[in-house]
Amino acid sequence: MNYGVGISVLLMAASQTATARPNQELENWIRGQTRASQILLARNISPEGSVPGTVVASPSRQTPDYYYHWVRDAGLVMSTWLDERLAPAVKARVDDDLREFWQITLHHQTRATPADLGEVKFYDNGEPYLGRWGRPQNDGPAIRALALMKWRAYLASVGSPFASDPALYSPDLRVHSAIKRDLEYVSHHWVGTDYDVWEEVRGHHFFTRLFQYYALREGVQLATDAGDPGAALWYLKNSNEIARELERHWVPELGYIKATLDRDEGLDYKSGLDSAVVIAVLETDGYANPESDPWTVLDSRVQATVQRLEATFIRIYEINARVSDVKGAMIGRYPEDTYNGIETGKRGNPWFLNTFYTAEFYYKLAAALDARGELRVNDTSRTFWKLFVGNETGLSKERQPEWNALMRKLVKHGDAILAHARTYVGEGGNLAEQIHRDEGRQVGAHDLSWSYSSFLRAASARERVAVYLD
Ligand code: NOJ
Ligand code: NOJ
Repeated sequence: MNYGVGISVLLMAASQTATARPNQELENWIRGQTRASQILLARNISPEGSVPGTVVASPSRQTPDYYYHWVRDAGLVMSTWLDERLAPAVKARVDDDLREFWQITLHHQTRATPADLGEVKFYDNGEPYLGRWGRPQNDGPAIRALALMKWRAYLASVGSPFASDPALYSPDLRVHSAIKRDLEYVSHHWVGTDYDVWEEVRGHHFFTRLFQYYALREGVQLATDAGDPGAALWYLKNSNEIARELERHWVPELGYIKATLDRDEGLDYKSGLDSAVVIAVLETDGYANPESDPWTVLDSRVQATVQRLEATFIRIYEINARVSDVKGAMIGRYPEDTYNGIETGKRGNPWFLNTFYTAEFYYKLAAALDARGELRVNDTSRTFWKLFVGNETGLSKERQPEWNALMRKLVKHGDAILAHARTYVGEGGNLAEQIHRDEGRQVGAHDLSWSYSSFLRAASARERVAVYLD
């Protein structure tokens, strides 16, 4: 009889599905894309004919030829792979893949190369590429050491005997142990200049430095546990020095973290605004203490840099004209980029991986803020926070519903980025390196391992904050 109630209940239900549906659709896509990314990435790990443990950057063998094990890409990918170990689509192989990655690392480390362990990439037969290239690239050994230390900690947690295998870590320098070799290299070479993550500029790089810092800091712990106190002290001393060097990258007059200092070779026209900075922050945040360590998602200098990156890329790529404000912009490496995925000297494009890391940033920012329970806005981060809290200078978790609304805004910002990226992904879920800046078609190396790994990271960071959307 009570018509009125019935109708309003019905209307409420209708409006709920109307608002729930777009989100549900995105979630379905994320679920499918997660599975696709796992399966497609698995094809790049120990592909047929390669020495087991080889992780090719992409199956593409020409225009561009990415059929190499890049030390950087492989290390980042294997770190993600370990986190995916429970996924039904890949769990049967992840353990073997990591063991083989360790074995091929031992092999790569014995090859004679012009850049020592700073060598950049290896063929699928385990031999180094010796042609002309920007070398050394010293982020590689630091990234690889971090991946292996994370795996070792996992092995220890499940009681695997490999955890104490001397070929993983031994205090005895005469024993070839994979992690120790890399840590020795990092601790003795971080002072010099090297080529950056994008392989174009020699100098001192925030990206490289942050990985070196955390590799040595994790190394302090490992060396201590392994009865190697002398090494622990040495790694500690060097990591402290690197921490001081990192501070130089914040340039107040610029208002962002400058990617490269002390350039002495390579491209000379970069402003230093570079999304590599954000990648390094996110890839090392598992080792950081957000309350005491700088350079995390909670650092106002990192927030300012993210804001500048989004505000910049939204203007320069035609495909970003589709999004109304800074939410959901596709992100490139750095504004002056001229690499189109095949050649330099052309027009740079947005990349999947840089875009996915930006989404990951927002999910992790929500999680970290919620754990802290308080937002503090300062002069450095004011512009960043304007979009989310207007002119407020802070907010406490006690203040509801404002706090939850803030969490939701951050997660939705990440979602807007994924939703935009999604429009360039086909049915099969394949992800190349780049997206054409005007036309929106995928360009550059197809099925890029790092694209899949960055998607998986964003998706799992989102898992942890999806509660705010309920
Ligand atoms: C130039 C690109 O900018 C760089 O990132 C890439 O690694 C090399 N070319 C090789 O493809
Ligand atoms: C070019 C990128 O600039 C570099 O970071 C990457 O290692 C290689 N491609 C391989 O993916």
